[in-house]
Amino acid sequence: MAELKKIAVFTSGGDSPGMNACVRSVVRSGLKNGLEVVGIYRGYQGMMEGDFIECEAHTVSNILHRGGTFLKTARSEEFRTKEGRAKAYAQLKKNNIDAIVVIGGDGSFTGAAVLHEEYGIPVIGCPGTIDNDLFGTDFTIGYDTAVNTVVDAVDRIRDTAESHSRLFFVEVMGRDAGLIALRSAVASGAEAVLIPETITYIDKLIDTLKTGYLMHKSSAIIIVAEGDDEGGAYEIAKKVGAKFDSYETKVTVLGHIQRGGKPSAFDRVVASRMGHKAVLSLLDGETNKMVGMQRNELVLVPFTQAIKHHKEINQDLLNLVEVLS
Ligand code: F6P
Repeated sequence: MAELKKIAVFTSGGDSPGMNACVRSVVRSGLKNGLEVVGIYRGYQGMMEGDFIECEAHTVSNILHRGGTFLKTARSEEFRTKEGRAKAYAQLKKNNIDAIVVIGGDGSFTGAAVLHEEYGIPVIGCPGTIDNDLFGTDFTIGYDTAVNTVVDAVDRIRDTAESHSRLFFVEVMGRDAGLIALRSAVASGAEAVLIPETITYIDKLIDTLKTGYLMHKSSAIIIVAEGDDEGGAYEIAKKVGAKFDSYETKVTVLGHIQRGGKPSAFDRVVASRMGHKAVLSLLDGETNKMVGMQRNELVLVPFTQAIKHHKEINQDLLNLVEVLS
C-alpha cells in the first residue's frame, strides 16, 4: 500500500452523542502521527460535493462535550448510485485523500464497503449510532447517553404515574433493535419491555399488569421499542385498553430527545478510544473494518460481519425485567 499522508473523517446517518468526540480524536490522533486530516461535511453528500475542511488541532477545540456532529450528517440517495460514488471518489482523488474514517451505523458502513470495493480506498469505521445494533461491539457511540436520557425521562414520568395511579406506555427509539428499550427498562424499573427481537403477546402483558394491580401496584410503566411487532406505544395502549382498564392510561413518545444532548463520560471515552484506534488501524494497513469494543478491549471487526449479523438480545436482562417487575 502507498504511504498514508492524508486522511478524511466524516459522520453519516443519524447523529449520536459522542460523534464530535470521535471526530476530535481522529483529527488529533492523525495530526500527532504526522498525517494531514480533512473533515468532510454532511457525510457522503458532502463527499460528492467536495465540501471539505482542512483540520488543525484547534478545528476540533470545544466539541468534545457537545451533542450532534459539527461536521453535520446526511443520508444520501445519490451516493447509492454508481455515478454518485464516482463523483465522491473523484473529489477524494482531487484532494489527495488516501484513506477515510466513517463514523456511523450499518448504512454508512455499507456505503464505505462499496466505495472500497469499487475504488480500493482504505476505510475504517467507528460505530456511531444510539441504537447499539452493530454486531461485534458491546457499545456503539451514543448508546449510553441515549439510555441515560430515556432513564431520566422515565424517572420523571414515574413521578406522575405514581401520583395519579396511572399506566404509562413509553415509546423509545429502535426501529429494528430493542437494545435502548431493554437497558432502559432495567434501569428504570419498568413493569415490562416490548422489543422487536421477541414476539409480543398482548394477553401475557395484561396478565403481568393484572398481577401487579392485585399486588397493589399503584402505577405501571411499559417501555415499547418503536419497532415492536405489535405496533408503537399508541397502538399497543389501545389493544391493552380494550381488555384491561384498571388504570388510567397515558402514552409518551420520547422521539428525538433521545438523539441529542451532551455525551456521557462513558460515550466520550469510547468515542475517543475508537477514533484513535481507527487512525492507528489505517496506519497499520487495515481496511474495510469497524473498530469495536469487546470486554473493554478495542478490536477490529470486518464490515461484512458488523453489518449483517444481528446482535443477540441479552436474555439475562430480559428475564431481569420480568423478575423485578
Ligand atoms: O439513530 C437511529 C434511529 O434513532 C432509529 O432508532 C430511528 O428509528 C431512526 O434513527 C430515526 O431516524 P431519523 O429521525 O433520522 O429519520
